[in-house]
Amino acid sequence: MPTNRHIVLLPGDGIGPEVVAEARKVLEAVAATFDRSLSFEEQLIGHAAIAATGDPLPEATLEACRRADAILLGAVGHPRYEADPTLPVRPEQGLLRLRKALALFANLRPVRLFDELLDASTLKPEVIRGTDILFFRELTGGIYFGEPRGRDEADTRARDTMTYSREEVRRIARMAFEAAGRRRRVVHSIDKANVLETSRLWRETVEEVARAYPDVALHHMYVDNAAMQLIRNPRQFDVVVTGNLFGDILTDEAAQLTGSLGMLPSASTGAKVGLYEPVHGSAPDIAGTDRANPLATILSAALMLEQSFGWTEEAEAVVAAVSQFLADGWRTPDLASEDTPSGKIVGTRRAGTLVADAVRQMVMGHA
Ligand code: IPM
Ligand code: MG
Repeated sequence: MPTNRHIVLLPGDGIGPEVVAEARKVLEAVAATFDRSLSFEEQLIGHAAIAATGDPLPEATLEACRRADAILLGAVGHPRYEADPTLPVRPEQGLLRLRKALALFANLRPVRLFDELLDASTLKPEVIRGTDILFFRELTGGIYFGEPRGRDEADTRARDTMTYSREEVRRIARMAFEAAGRRRRVVHSIDKANVLETSRLWRETVEEVARAYPDVALHHMYVDNAAMQLIRNPRQFDVVVTGNLFGDILTDEAAQLTGSLGMLPSASTGAKVGLYEPVHGSAPDIAGTDRANPLATILSAALMLEQSFGWTEEAEAVVAAVSQFLADGWRTPDLASEDTPSGKIVGTRRAGTLVADAVRQMVMGHA
């Protein structure tokens, strides 16, 4: 019997359950074709958890995640909370607490353009062709978690605190330099050191870390300039390392380089258990309509196979299956252009089935 790997699924809200179901289909195809053993368990998070228990991260969920070999999350968020920003218990808190509790300080977001999608982006093909960037977003520090935060007593003022320790910067910077050594040996560190104290400490610390990697070139860039450079000339970037808030913003922007936010996977690591999730949100406007793109979640599952289980061949088969799906002309609505024949536009479930089938065929082709 092959060793079993236990995966906790956190479907969450909106389109989360739909895209996670398709990723599971693909993972089951991997297990069947590569003779691997996977088991699954679903737990609540986000609004779904609040609705059922009052808590966006119930104790049972956290316990299951601690015991898991890896975690796959769909999305958290619900329009109800946008309509009323004063509601104190919010879906996003579930995800933030989970990241913190599992010490997942490094969020890897690979931004790779599939050639088949050159025309799906709103940006010019000649600008985005060949884009291949690996973001390291610091995930458990910065303004997302800094204290003090909140409203003053008279409710006339609110504050958040941006804070970074040298050690927090060091550990994410080291990961970025290690990865760059295996890639094109260029690191861009993004900050706002012309204004922010935290950024000055960030820059100083990244430079200290860089000394141990003399064969990797380090460039510093202000975040406002980086936002512009990303769409001006994305190929100048290889590895990018940045703080929590800047990383959140820049990776949504970078997603557009790949054609759609529906294509961008992510892996959160740092401690024992890894958390894998698409970069996109819960998209309540299309939830339940079978129109969500499951590819970001499927590609997140591929990252899981590689990083948490060390199953390189299996991970490559999933990525190749996604390529095959696109090369065969299939498009979810977000990826379709005016030229896409309507017969090639597929829903969430069909997309998942086609990718799972491609995984099976990939292996048969091998044999
Ligand atoms: C992301 C999301 C989250 C974040 C939200 C849902 C809390 O936007 O993972 O990028 O801001 O980190
Ligand atoms: Mg975000």
